[in-house]
Amino acid sequence: MDDREWYKPMSFYQIWVRSFADGNGDGIGDLYGVYDKLPYVKSLGVDGIWFSPIYPSPNADYGYDISDYKNIHPDFGDLEQFKKVLTRAHEMGLKVIMDLVVNHTSDEHPWFVESCKGKDNPYSDYYIWRDKPNNWDSLFEGEAWEYVPSRGQYYLHIFAKKQPDLNMDNPKVREEVKSIMRFWLDMGVDGFREDVINFISKREGLPNGLPFLPAAKGMSHYKDGPHIHEYMAEFRKVCEDYDCFQLGEGPMTTVKSAMKYLTGPTKSLDMMFSFDHMMADCMYTEYLHRPFSLVKLKKAFTKWQYALAGKGWNALYIENHDHPRIISRYGSEFFWRESGTMLAASYIFQQGTPFIYQGQEIGMTNIKLMSIDQYVDVSSITNYHTYHLKEDPERRLHRIHLSSRDSARTPMQWDTSENAGFSKVKPWFYVNPNYNKVNVAKEEEDKESILWFYRNCLALRKGSETLIYGDYTEYFPKDKNIFMYERSLGKESYLIICSFSRLPVRAHKPEKFKGHKGELVLCNYEGESKLLHKKGLLRPFETRVYRYNLE
Ligand code: NOJ
Repeated sequence: MDDREWYKPMSFYQIWVRSFADGNGDGIGDLYGVYDKLPYVKSLGVDGIWFSPIYPSPNADYGYDISDYKNIHPDFGDLEQFKKVLTRAHEMGLKVIMDLVVNHTSDEHPWFVESCKGKDNPYSDYYIWRDKPNNWDSLFEGEAWEYVPSRGQYYLHIFAKKQPDLNMDNPKVREEVKSIMRFWLDMGVDGFREDVINFISKREGLPNGLPFLPAAKGMSHYKDGPHIHEYMAEFRKVCEDYDCFQLGEGPMTTVKSAMKYLTGPTKSLDMMFSFDHMMADCMYTEYLHRPFSLVKLKKAFTKWQYALAGKGWNALYIENHDHPRIISRYGSEFFWRESGTMLAASYIFQQGTPFIYQGQEIGMTNIKLMSIDQYVDVSSITNYHTYHLKEDPERRLHRIHLSSRDSARTPMQWDTSENAGFSKVKPWFYVNPNYNKVNVAKEEEDKESILWFYRNCLALRKGSETLIYGDYTEYFPKDKNIFMYERSLGKESYLIICSFSRLPVRAHKPEKFKGHKGELVLCNYEGESKLLHKKGLLRPFETRVYRYNLE
C-alpha cells in the first residue's frame, strides 16, 4: 500500500453502547440496538465504527475497567450478537474498531483477584505492587495506591481504585495483550483504539513525582515511559499479520513525543488522539476551568496540522465520551444550530481522519442535573468533592454542569417519544430534557439541520482529494473571532471560514485569493445576506466553505 492508507479517506462514528439504543427493553443500550441502527450510522456517510469498551465490566469507569477481555458485557448481548453486528457492518462497508484498554484492568478481573492472594502466585507480578507507596496521584481518586491486607502491599492505580495498573514489564502480561488483540482480529475486527497507551511503561523504581499538573503527580514517570517503544513494537508486530490499523489515545502527549509513535523506526501507531485542542477551556475536569479561547484552540489545531504534514496523519475529533458536549463548550446553546454546524466544519475539513461521537451529529448539549448525587462518573464525583471546596455548592455544581463527562453519556435522542426513543422503559441514565427539539427524527425532516450539515460535510470531504490529502494552511491566527484555514492540492483550494462569534464579524480575504472568485460549496445559513456578504461580514457562528480554482 502506498502512503494513502485505507484509513485516510475514511471517517468514523464512535458508539458508547450503553447510551446508544436499547434493543432488548431493559433501559440499557446494547448490541441489538446497535444492529438496528446500523443503517442510520451508514446514512451519515461514515466508513467505520469505534466501539468504546463493550466487554464485561463492573462499570466503576463504565467499561474502562474490564473484567474479561474476550467476551461481551451481558448488558450488551453476547459474542454471537457482536458477530452479527460485525458481519452486518462489514456487509454495509463499515469497518469496526475496538477499544483496547491494557494500562489497567478491573479489580474484579480474575488476574487481579489471584494477584491479591499472595506473592507466590502465578499472577503475582501481573500488577504493580509495593510495600510502601510513592507520592503519585491517581487521575480519578486521590492517591495512586491502595492497600490490600491479604497481600500486605499496595497496588498502583493511575485511574480509579477499581482500575489496578498492569505490570507491562512482565513479558507474560504483554503476551496476554497480544492474545487479546489476536482474539478480536481473528474475529474480523479492523483495528484498535488504544486507551491511554502512552502510560503503559513506568519508570524503574517508581520514583516520587514532581508536580506536573495539579492532581497528576508522577505523570512524568509513566508518560512515554522508558520501554514504551519496545512494547509498542511488539503489539505492532501482531497487527502486521492483519490488515488493520492502530489508533492510540495519547493524553497530554506533545507533538514531539507523538512523532515517535507515528513516524520513523519506532512507528507503532497510525494515528493518535492528541489533547491540546481540548485545553482551550478545561480538560476533563473543572479544576483548571478557564474561559474558552479561540486563539488557543486554533494554535492547537494548527500545531498538529503543521507538525504532521507529510509525515504522520491526524485523528480529528472535538467530542467523545470523555468531554462535555462541544456546543455547550466551544459554541453556544443559544445559537445552537449555527454553532453546532460551524463546529463541524471547523475540524472535519482539516487533514486527518474525522471521528464523530454519537449525538454530536444532532447537536446534543450538556445536561444540567440538580444534584451531584445524580451524577455517575467517577471523575465528576471526585472533582466535586475535591476542588473549590470554599465555593458554595451551587457554584461547584455549575462547574460540573460545564465539565462533566456524564453530559456525553446521556441517552441518544432518537425522536420525541417517551425516553427520546432510546428505550421503552426508564433508561439507566437521565435523558436530556431538550429531546423534543434535539433529536434524529426531527432533524431528518429538516435539510438545514445539524444532522444534514454533518452529512454534507462528510460527503464533500469524501468527494474531494484536496479535502482529504491537500495541504493545510491557517490564516489570521491571531483573530479572536474567526478560524480560517485552507486545504490545497495543485491548483485547487478550499477556504474554510468559521466564525466563533455571537455578533457579526468581518472576515478578510487572504492575499492569495484576492482577484479570484470562489464557489460557495457549503454554508450553514440559508440564503445569502447580500448586504452582510458585500461588507465581508459573517453572521453569528456562520461557516462558509469556498472552492477556488487558482489557475
Ligand atoms: C481514557 C478513556 O477514554 C476514559 O474514558 C477512561 O476513563 C480512562 N482512559 C481510563 O481508562
